[in-house]
Amino acid sequence: MPHKIASVHPRSTALRGASAVAIAALVLTACSGSRVHGTPGADGVRDPYFPQLGNGGYDVAHYDLAIGYDPDARHLTGTAEVTARATQDLSAFNLDLKGLEVKGVSVEGKDASFHRDGQELTIRPAEDLDKGETFRTIVRYSGSPETVTDPDDSKEGWLRTEEGAIALGEPSGSMAWFPGNNHPSDKASYDIRVTVPQGLKAISNGELTRESTKNGRTTFAWHSTEPMASYLATVAIGPYEVKKSTTKSGIPVLTAVEPSEAKAGAKALARIPEILEWQELNFGPYPFSSTGAIVTREGDAGYALETQTRPTYPGAPDPQLIVHELAHQWFGNSVTPKSWRDMWLNEGFATYAEWLWQEDNGGDSAQEIFDQIYAGDYYEAKEDNDAIWAFPPAKPPSAANISDSPVYERGGMVIHKIRQAVGDDTFYDIVQGWTKAHRHGNADTEDFTRYVEKHAGGEAARAKVRAIWGPWLYGDGKPQRP
Ligand code: TRP
Ligand code: ZN
Repeated sequence: MPHKIASVHPRSTALRGASAVAIAALVLTACSGSRVHGTPGADGVRDPYFPQLGNGGYDVAHYDLAIGYDPDARHLTGTAEVTARATQDLSAFNLDLKGLEVKGVSVEGKDASFHRDGQELTIRPAEDLDKGETFRTIVRYSGSPETVTDPDDSKEGWLRTEEGAIALGEPSGSMAWFPGNNHPSDKASYDIRVTVPQGLKAISNGELTRESTKNGRTTFAWHSTEPMASYLATVAIGPYEVKKSTTKSGIPVLTAVEPSEAKAGAKALARIPEILEWQELNFGPYPFSSTGAIVTREGDAGYALETQTRPTYPGAPDPQLIVHELAHQWFGNSVTPKSWRDMWLNEGFATYAEWLWQEDNGGDSAQEIFDQIYAGDYYEAKEDNDAIWAFPPAKPPSAANISDSPVYERGGMVIHKIRQAVGDDTFYDIVQGWTKAHRHGNADTEDFTRYVEKHAGGEAARAKVRAIWGPWLYGDGKPQRP
């Protein structure tokens, strides 16, 4: 757009030049003053697929969300307290929020002015913020939260159900129910308190710290200690059946199941401890303080999601789907992509976890599954088999493709190629070393390839893994079988 204006209308270029000078002058004047010195934080973090997601100039440490929801009126009231550290001198900064009405904003206890433009909520504090300063922003908001349609036409954000709602946030939907720095690169701890009509339950991430009923409304307070990306935050409101248990290693398990799914789901859900223990042997220590599941009715969402500690399933899951979503707790939730381009690190590993599970549980081996896919007889339909080769996993052609099969199956094949190249012992060292090195952090594709090269175990193996990246990760078309 700016390019168009500049080349077609030279006059506006001149105007823009003039205003830039004026702004520079203003900034200079401001800098010589003592109180006003900051500049506005960026309105996005330049994600290659979702440039408006996230914001620049600060780093969130903690979200304290208090939400009330009335399912009959479809009305949400929220107070979001965001504790962040400024990474530059700030005169203004943005949070991402889609829909809803902002009632008021304060920063460090003083009323702040705000402006909304699409999904950008721009906040101008009464006083500029200093680089390095930790500051608290409170946003009061309300309204009927939106369902967000993704570039691939899937639905996320706030999804209404028969008795309540579920909130799903990959890649962008969390901004439909709370204002935040909505990008996986900025993880934070969370307190999520949800008040619903008595009789309903509100399930979220982490551990339940309080449940109290007053005047016909029940408040559920949930706490997530470990860092969480905004896309993994969830709330599920409904008449859930809640069950608690503990794994042998002492991790609390909480499942919340829509009553109509309880019978169908019971057997697979009972295997969560066993699945988690198997994953700990393969991937390293479980990164979070609790686990479990949220099972909604089948049509309530179009897909399962690895919501942190407590994946969400639309309908009773089978063990393999539980394996996939719990594998994400290591791959995606603890080791989180730096941008949405690194999606294959999530889905490739979660898919490969399914193959390993089959291999260890009397099904096909990962090698057999790899061979079926390569031969084009994994799926029934030819177009589904062909689709796996549509693009390289580390370079999806657009935002609409980040959850296509090249990211999942071909991503899984990349992991298997590494295992072939280095052998099982080194492979599991690499997997466990990777989850340890980046535990509760962010990583991208290059971090991963560098890590694998470094730990491949000698020059010959290093050369072998290096030969994988070009054709399997970045190259177009179906790689030649070596
Ligand atoms: N991550 C989910 C899974 O595989 C699938 C998914 C849901 C997804 N929404 C998405 C993937 C948006 C990419 C983008 O379990
Ligand atoms: Zn997945």
